[in-house]
Amino acid sequence: MQIPTIKLNNGVTMPQLGLGVYQITDLNQCEQTVLTAINAGYRLIDTAAAYHNETAVGQAIKQTSVAREQLFITSKLWVADANYERAKRAINESLENLQLDYLDLYLMHQAYGDVAGAWRAMSEAYQEGKIRALGVSNFFPDQLKNLELMSNIQPVIDQIEVNPWYQRASDVQAIQRENVAVEAWAPFAEGQHEIFTNETLVQIGQKYHKSVGQVILRWLIQRGIVVLAKSVHQSRIEENSAVFDFELSDDDMQTIATLDKGESQFFDHRDPVTIEQIFGSSLAQLKE
Ligand SMILES: NC(=O)c1ccc[n+]([C@@H]2O[C@H](COP(=O)([O-])OP(=O)(O)OC[C@H]3O[C@@H](n4cnc5c(N)ncnc54)[C@H](OP(=O)(O)O)[C@@H]3O)[C@@H](O)[C@H]2O)c1
Repeated sequence: MQIPTIKLNNGVTMPQLGLGVYQITDLNQCEQTVLTAINAGYRLIDTAAAYHNETAVGQAIKQTSVAREQLFITSKLWVADANYERAKRAINESLENLQLDYLDLYLMHQAYGDVAGAWRAMSEAYQEGKIRALGVSNFFPDQLKNLELMSNIQPVIDQIEVNPWYQRASDVQAIQRENVAVEAWAPFAEGQHEIFTNETLVQIGQKYHKSVGQVILRWLIQRGIVVLAKSVHQSRIEENSAVFDFELSDDDMQTIATLDKGESQFFDHRDPVTIEQIFGSSLAQLKE
């Protein structure tokens, strides 16, 4: 099945659904998973320096018969490299790891560190043709606005957590209003709160002969969101991409809206204690 594309604000098109490879730490498995996804019709692959599997993604790209220009490869700048000098180096390292001349999309992974300096390095790589589109991840609308106001290069996308438990209606609207695309990470909330057996989602799926995973991805797509689904299983990889042949009714969209728990299923990016615990040691490297 052909996966539809969306047009980003710089004119580049990207697939509306892709494979994420977070937590696929076994490099052979990562390589095989990427190949399986490409064979199933996926073209968007989402990795990051912090996932430590860019080399495996690169190996898969090298092996596939699908032409490089048909693929859409995303990587991300980690917090420990979030300043001008380090970002310059990190971009080249990601390209080397992936064995690529250019990235289709490169994201600032978190809104921490020397955001302005890192964005300047990313902008230079964009202007040099090493990156086709620049974006951010985990930026709240105010942080996105700040970046837009201080730079001549507007981010094309903001990759944020969005799933039935954390629906973020106002954040999604605010980001999309800026003509910046929203890309959902952890669309399945990594299975938390028994999402795959949730009765409401199961019942909606039965109406369309679709699985819960397919209902969730379709619900996101109908909100105009780009989705990343991670699976290492061929059957699920195929299942997750079969979401362009049905449409959820307005009633079903609204029923899913009632499932919102209104908070991140992972951690609060706005809590200083959490920021220090999770990003403190990475940020400390910027002082070296
Ligand atoms: N920017 C960021 O900060 C950030 C953070 C997290 C994730 N991400 C990106 O977003 C991608 C997706 O998020 P995620 O990997 O955290 O979580 P996710 O996609 O919400 O959930 C993945 C989990 O769901 C299972 N699964 C997948 N499809 C299924 C299906 N059809 N039926 C039943 N179970 C299914 C997978 O198991 P199996 O693999 O065993 O099938 C895996 O355990 C990541 O891979 C990464 O690229 C970005």
